[in-house]
Amino acid sequence: MGRNYYIAGNWKMHKTRAEATELAKALVSQLKDGKHQYLVAPSFTSLEAVGAVVKGTNIRLGAQNCAAEEQGAHTGEVSVLQLKDLGVQTIILGHSERRHVYKEDDQLISKKVKLALKHGFEVILCIGELLEEREAGRAEEVCESQTIKGLEGISAQELSGIVIAYEPVWAIGTGKTATPEDADAIHAFVRKVIAKLYGKDAAEKIIIQYGGSVKPENAAQLMAKENIDGALVGGASLKTETFVPIALFS
Ligand code: PGA
Repeated sequence: MGRNYYIAGNWKMHKTRAEATELAKALVSQLKDGKHQYLVAPSFTSLEAVGAVVKGTNIRLGAQNCAAEEQGAHTGEVSVLQLKDLGVQTIILGHSERRHVYKEDDQLISKKVKLALKHGFEVILCIGELLEEREAGRAEEVCESQTIKGLEGISAQELSGIVIAYEPVWAIGTGKTATPEDADAIHAFVRKVIAKLYGKDAAEKIIIQYGGSVKPENAAQLMAKENIDGALVGGASLKTETFVPIALFS
C-alpha cells in the first residue's frame, strides 16, 4: 500500500494554553521517532502556543474550523488568513459537531473547503452518518452525498490537499467504535466514490482516516484494514498515555 498512515488528534474545546503546551511538548518528545504522519488540532486560543512547540517537528498544526469568508464583519469567526498567520497547516472541516450541533450544511462546508484549499491548507473533510441513518440502511448514501458535496468544485490537482475522515456520528465520544469490517466497508465505498469523481489513481492515493472512539485497544485492528489509513482521535488524544500508543501503533 502506497499510503502513509496519518494520525490526528482533535483536542476540541479542551485545554488552556499551559495545558495544551504541556501536551504538545510531551508529544514532540514521545513521537519524534514515530513512523507515521501526525497532527494536533488545539483550540484557536492555543494555536500560537502549540505552533511554537511543534514547529519543525513531525507533528503538523491543525485548526478545528475556519470561517467561510476571507475577512469582514463576521463576529466570532476566525479566518484562513488569521490561521495562516499562526502557522496552521491543516483545517478540519465538516466535523459532525459542526454539522449537527452548529448546523453547518454541505453548502457552507463546501465553501470553506474551497477557501482553505485556495489558501494552501490541507483539509481534513469529515463525513459520517447518524445512528438513525445507519439503522435505515442509508450510511453509504449519506457518506456519498457528503463526499460529493464537500468536494464540489475541487479539481483533481487540488484533491491532493484533501484527507477524508469517516466518522460515524454514533461512534463519536460514545465509546462505541465501528467494527474494523464496518468501517473498512465504508472506506472502500468512499474510495469508489472518489474513483468515480477523480479516477482510480486519485482514489488509491487519498488518505481516509477513521474517527469515533479510537483507543489504544482498537487502533491497530482498525488500521490493519486495507482502506483505513489513519485515525482522527478525539477523547483519547487529550492524554499522552492514550494518544501515544495509537500514534505509534505498528
Ligand atoms: P472521539 O472523537 O475519539 O472522542 O470519539 C472523534 C472525533 O470527533 O474526531
